[in-house]
Amino acid sequence: MKMDFIDLKAQYAMYKDEIDREVLEVMSSARFIGGEKILAFEENLKAYCGAHEAVACSSGTDALLLALMALDIKEGDEVITTPFTFIATAEVIGLLKAKPVFVDIDEETYNIDHLKIEEKITKKTKAIIPVSLYGQVANMDEINQIAKKHNLWVIEDAAQSFGASYKNKRSCNLSPIACTSFFPSKPLGCYSDGGAVLLEDEEMALKIRILLNHGQDKRYNHKYIGINGRLDAMQAAILNVKLKYFDEEVKKRGEVAKRYFENLADVKNIKLPTILKDRDSVFAQFTIVCQDRDDIKNRLTKAGIPSAIHYPKPLHLQEVFEYLGYKKGDFPISEKISKSVISLPMSPFLKKEDQDYVIEVLRG
Ligand SMILES: Cc1ncc(COP(=O)(O)O)c(C=O)c1O
Repeated sequence: MKMDFIDLKAQYAMYKDEIDREVLEVMSSARFIGGEKILAFEENLKAYCGAHEAVACSSGTDALLLALMALDIKEGDEVITTPFTFIATAEVIGLLKAKPVFVDIDEETYNIDHLKIEEKITKKTKAIIPVSLYGQVANMDEINQIAKKHNLWVIEDAAQSFGASYKNKRSCNLSPIACTSFFPSKPLGCYSDGGAVLLEDEEMALKIRILLNHGQDKRYNHKYIGINGRLDAMQAAILNVKLKYFDEEVKKRGEVAKRYFENLADVKNIKLPTILKDRDSVFAQFTIVCQDRDDIKNRLTKAGIPSAIHYPKPLHLQEVFEYLGYKKGDFPISEKISKSVISLPMSPFLKKEDQDYVIEVLRG
C-alpha cells in the first residue's frame, strides 16, 4: 500500500481545472508580482478570518519577521514564546538580535502554558508569541489579558491553525497581530512558500507592506531596512481557488480526526489529542503521544505508513540557542512530549481504506 502523509496530489486533481486556468491567466497577464490576484487574495483572507487588515507575504517565517520588525523589536528586547514549536517562531526573534524567552507548554494541549507566562515578564519584554500548535488555538483570551496588564503585544503564530476556531471566532483574528503560513502542507497551502500577517491596525499594515518591499514607501525611496518578502501572484491565484473550498476541507479534516478518535480511543499506550471544548482544531497534524514511540514508528514504517515527528528536539536544546544558556530539564513538559509525539497521516483527502489500515496497524 502506498500512502501519502498529506495527499497534495489528490487535492490538486480536485481543483485542477480552476487552478490551471488561474495560473495561466497570471502567466498571460505577465503580472507576476503584486497586482489584482494579490489584492483579491488579501480581501478574501480578511473576509475569511474576520480580520481588519491582511497583508500577504512570502512565507510564515517572513510574516513573523515582518510583524516583529513592524513593532521595532531589536537588540535588548525580550519576546516570550514556547520551546515546543517549529524553529521559525524563535528564529525570527534571534534574527533581530532580540532574546527569545521560553515558557513551557501545557501537558494536554502542547500549547504555551499561560499560567507560566507572567513569571517570565521583565522590563525588557515586548511581546508574546503563542503558537496554535497542530491546529488548535492557544489560550488566547488569557494570553491577551496578561499582555494587556503588562502592555505587551501578542502575535498569534497561526502557521498551523488557519481555519481553526476559538469561541466562535477564527484563528488569525484573536490578537492584535497574527501570522500564518501557506507552505504546501499547511491546512491552506499554496504551491511554493507563502504567508500572511493579519492585524487590527491599518497603520501597522501599511508599515508591513513597506517593510516587505525593501522598506520602500515610494519608488526608489526607502524609509526602513526591509526585506524582499512579497507573495507572488501565481501563489495568490492558487490560494484564491483553494480558499473557496477550504471550509469543506476543514470539515473533511474533522471527519478524519473523528475516525481516529473513535477507533483509537481504547488503544493502550497511546494518548489522543485533547481538544478543548471552546475551540475546534483544524488538525494541521493529528499527533498522538505514545509510551514507546520507536516501536510505533517502526510498526508504521514497516507497514508502509508515513509518519512524522513534530518536533523531536525542543528549541531550548537546539545548538543555535545555546547562547541563551538554557539546559536540559528547564522545560520538562516540552522535553517529555518531544520524546513521545508522532503525527499520523492526515489530509482531507485521506482515503477511508488508508485510514482504516493506519488504525489496524496501530491497534496491533
Ligand atoms: C508554528 C510554525 N511557525 C512558523 C512556521 C514558518 O512558516 P513557513 O514555513 O511558511 O516559513 C511554521 C511552518 O512550518 C510553523 O509550523
